[in-house]
Amino acid sequence: MSVVISPSILNCDFGHFADELARISTADYVHVDVMDNHFVPNLALGLPLVEAAVHASPVPVDAHLMIEDPDRWAPVYAEAGCASVTFHAQAASAPLRLAREIRAQGRRVGLALRPATGIEPYVDIFGEFDMILVMTVEPGFGGQSFIESMMPKVSRTRKAIRDAGLDVWVQVDGGVSRSTIEKAAQAGANNFVAGSAVYRAEDAAAEVEALRQLAAPHVH
Ligand code: DX5
Ligand code: ZN
Repeated sequence: MSVVISPSILNCDFGHFADELARISTADYVHVDVMDNHFVPNLALGLPLVEAAVHASPVPVDAHLMIEDPDRWAPVYAEAGCASVTFHAQAASAPLRLAREIRAQGRRVGLALRPATGIEPYVDIFGEFDMILVMTVEPGFGGQSFIESMMPKVSRTRKAIRDAGLDVWVQVDGGVSRSTIEKAAQAGANNFVAGSAVYRAEDAAAEVEALRQLAAPHVH
């Protein structure tokens, strides 16, 4: 399993959007957070900006939909050219059907679990997904502290995937930095979203590389 680094542009400088995307050309994906002020208490980055990212980004777009009614909207983001579309388990009325629909569009599909959402109701459909996102903050804002008590959930997610013989990525999102990424990798994550850690760094490419190097020894 490879290490995947996906910087989040939530708090980048949108006045220089193309330049901000160019700063992370050595990453694997650009993580784009979509918020509707209903599923989470914040409003951010809708479809026009995602389309702009699809066209301007040197790396594929990983869309994280923190919205209600993903059953309706997730296929629209897939159609817009996102390489990967992740929706929240509890927001979807038919997560399995939606996963199949996104895969049928030729995109990767992810299932997101907020901190108080357990994996158990979803374990039997993990094989319908390319990625499980274990949130390491309450979704809604960048710059929050990594919730270390999520590490057992990351481990259980990885174990369930291994036990079922599946090839599914485990993503962590929220508070990922040089000081937390090794814990997440040790617990079983292989895909790391980092917003403020990368965009507050003087040299974003160096930060991406540092995160990759710290995670690599723990990802198998
Ligand atoms: C939070 C978002 C994250 C956020 C991460 O709801 O899903 O992707 O941008 O930002 P940091 O890395 O600063 O916690
Ligand atoms: Zn996110």
